[in-house]
Amino acid sequence: MTSSEIRQAFLDFFKSKGHTIVPSAPIVIKNDPTLLFTNAGMNQFKDYFLGNKTPEHKRVADTQKCLRVSGKHNDLEEVGVDTYHHTMFEMLGNWSFGDYFKKEAIAWSWELLTEVYKIPQDKLYVTVFEGDEKEGLPFDEEAYNEWKKHIAEDRILKGNKKDNFWEMGDTGPCGPCSEIHVDCRSEEERKQIDGKTLVNADHPQVIEIWNNVFMQFNRLKDGSLQNLPAKHVDTGMGFERLVRVLQGKQSNYDTDVFTGTISEIEKIVNKTYAFSDSKQDVAFRVLADHIRAIAFTISDGQLPSNTGAGYVIRRILRRAVRYYFSYLDYKTPLLFQLIPHIAQQFEHVFPELKAQQDFVTKVIKEEEDAFLRTLDRGLKRIDELISAEKTVNQINGKDAFELYDTYGFPIDLTRLIASENNLSVDEDGFNQEMQQQKNRSRAATAIDTEDWITINEVAKTSFIGYDNLETETKVVKYRKVKSKNKEQFQIVLEQTPFYAESGGQVGDVGQLIINNEELKIIDTKKENGEIIHFADKIVSDFNFPVVAKVNAGRRLQITLNHSATHLLHAALKEVLGKHVNQKGSLVSPDLLRFDVSHFAKITDEELRKAETIVNAKIRENIPVVIKEMPKDEALKLGAMALFGEKYGDVVRVVMIDPNFSIELCGGTHVGFTGQIGLFKITAESAVAAGVRRIEALTGEAAFQYVSEKTEQVKIISELLKTKEPIKAIEKLQEEKSVLGKRIENLEARQLVGIRNELLQKDELLNVKTQHGQEFAISFIGSVIEVSNADALKKLALDLKNNLRDYVAVLGANIGGKPFVAVGISETVVTALNLDAAKIIKENIAPLIKGGGGGQKTLATAGGQDASNLAQVIEAVKNLIV
Ligand code: ALA
Repeated sequence: MTSSEIRQAFLDFFKSKGHTIVPSAPIVIKNDPTLLFTNAGMNQFKDYFLGNKTPEHKRVADTQKCLRVSGKHNDLEEVGVDTYHHTMFEMLGNWSFGDYFKKEAIAWSWELLTEVYKIPQDKLYVTVFEGDEKEGLPFDEEAYNEWKKHIAEDRILKGNKKDNFWEMGDTGPCGPCSEIHVDCRSEEERKQIDGKTLVNADHPQVIEIWNNVFMQFNRLKDGSLQNLPAKHVDTGMGFERLVRVLQGKQSNYDTDVFTGTISEIEKIVNKTYAFSDSKQDVAFRVLADHIRAIAFTISDGQLPSNTGAGYVIRRILRRAVRYYFSYLDYKTPLLFQLIPHIAQQFEHVFPELKAQQDFVTKVIKEEEDAFLRTLDRGLKRIDELISAEKTVNQINGKDAFELYDTYGFPIDLTRLIASENNLSVDEDGFNQEMQQQKNRSRAATAIDTEDWITINEVAKTSFIGYDNLETETKVVKYRKVKSKNKEQFQIVLEQTPFYAESGGQVGDVGQLIINNEELKIIDTKKENGEIIHFADKIVSDFNFPVVAKVNAGRRLQITLNHSATHLLHAALKEVLGKHVNQKGSLVSPDLLRFDVSHFAKITDEELRKAETIVNAKIRENIPVVIKEMPKDEALKLGAMALFGEKYGDVVRVVMIDPNFSIELCGGTHVGFTGQIGLFKITAESAVAAGVRRIEALTGEAAFQYVSEKTEQVKIISELLKTKEPIKAIEKLQEEKSVLGKRIENLEARQLVGIRNELLQKDELLNVKTQHGQEFAISFIGSVIEVSNADALKKLALDLKNNLRDYVAVLGANIGGKPFVAVGISETVVTALNLDAAKIIKENIAPLIKGGGGGQKTLATAGGQDASNLAQVIEAVKNLIV
């Protein structure tokens, strides 16, 4: 079976068992502060497990893009070194939301593996949870008994909490689990050593392929377990491992999931991949693995950056670059060349990459270019550090931080290179340096969240803010959140008119009135499907009805900006071409900001065109039609869905003239476009490789802006006493340049005059050379009047055309500040061993309270105290005679 057939067989099997096949959620997570990336198939269903949301289907299955490089599940260090861990991998999964439980889950996984995939039964082992006294959890007898129906009892192994109790993170849904392991060793090896002794023992040929989790609990912040409202099944099978087992390979990289990419790399670097532990082969595996993680996160909307999820991607990319640079001897960007292959390979599973192929390629190439520029220097620096005497067993934290800060080396890259040289890295020291830097730039933002305190149990919560800005409701729960500098409270209401930040639209502010007490709501956000209201304090008693009121004026401005954003998006597609995609947006009361993928600066003319189209659509006063419909239907209508957004089966569609703009959007919008009033673009800039940003205003703010600009032009016209200010300014600029040239000429002539005067004041000094010979030199010391420091320097230099052996010290007071130039002929420099730069630094700078430098024959200084200029000249003279 090819990998595609294997994937399809999984989905078909669960479809036949009544499951709905759903798309993979984006690999980048939004709206869940506990996770940066999807690390398991169940993430997108977390709300169903917690009971925050009702699922559309009780049984679903899919293949999910996952990334395990940060947080609780982190495999990065193993990737490429072994043959079965990955950064990005596909997780095949089937789920029951309060529907079937252990019996069916176990029977079906057995049926699929042994009857559809035909894995010999004597190669399989299963594990069940042995229980945990401390947690008060019993042995999973039910799972054990179910397995007994299918597999010999000596193949059912008991596992501890570490292996057989699955948790999503430090908090969240969890439960006992049952894993299925495959023994891929040869017949002979299997006879020699009993496979069950190798289960969960990191043996490269005895590997876990499938995990069945029986979700029953929610892990709370305080560490305790709370029963979930219902029991669920959550399974995850590592697709790449399954393919390896079914294709009878020793390594995931020898399956058709990776061989295509590896042969692309072979062609590029002109080397051959073999299955070995050599650095070169590790490099092949690292590249074949990492490029997938990089490509799919970027196509899901996460650009590489210096913080958060963006930095994780940058780290993976840099790790890959270092591998090809050092071990494949390839010194120019490589990764971006693999994108066409990967995009095509996954076109039918994850089409978002193919759809944005040019954009993703460009972003990766720029990242590679930038890192390659500093990598070589960084590698030299780390070599220096490794051979330095002070480095005994460890690279110290300061040096690791320098590598990070100056050469862009992520800590895991430094750790990798250090370990290759049998060194460790002082990571505590590194973290301290990092923390210090963070503290220097901003206050730390560590957040400590307490558990919820429930006031009213309710069946469900709802958002009613599309049509209402005020409602009477009750508090469901609240909790305290502490960050370093402040304490805040989060409140959930049964019904709320407050829009929670999403889709670029900022959260509403407003007030809650509870038993005559007023509580200011300063922000609203969504978390795990719940709408959270943020307040600085709480009221004394939440057990009263609540009046929730949104700040209506502010909401209106936001709404105008949101509808205008849709018009701008559509207008840009008309003006720049269909390739432009939204890459982010901010819809706030003050302005709208819209990021698009586009490879060049958007010209003034293009901006004007887009602005004109948007304003025409405003004047047409088009009704904004909002409908809910199945997603497929919306896409057929031509609705623009954003990459990296998660949409349900039923979507909200916002139409502004069906021939112009149809978007999937949860935001708030005007009834008719005429309400927007006026649309004005105020700025265009670059935000990242291939991404441009447009800022614009609407309504009252746009009017204010235009009116201020008009007023400015009026004032300019008045000042210039003209009706045509542009012409007048051009004329002024011309005149200015003519005058400037004139002044230059005059000053040059003036300098000649000054020089001649100086030459008259030439003083002859008889001195002794360093060898004791008599030597007559000219000394010119004078405080003169010039308009700039450059003129002083020119004069000091000029004197050499008229004098042979001389020392010149020229000072000037320019606008209250002292400037000095010292010129010494080569002959005098040699004969008296003088150095103008040294004189400036040692003898002059202190006198004028300043500093400077230069060469032996010419040096200058500037300072703060102009009262000692005469002394400066005396001081230099005294040095010579
Ligand atoms: N959520 C389970 C896992 O990731 C299936 O292993």
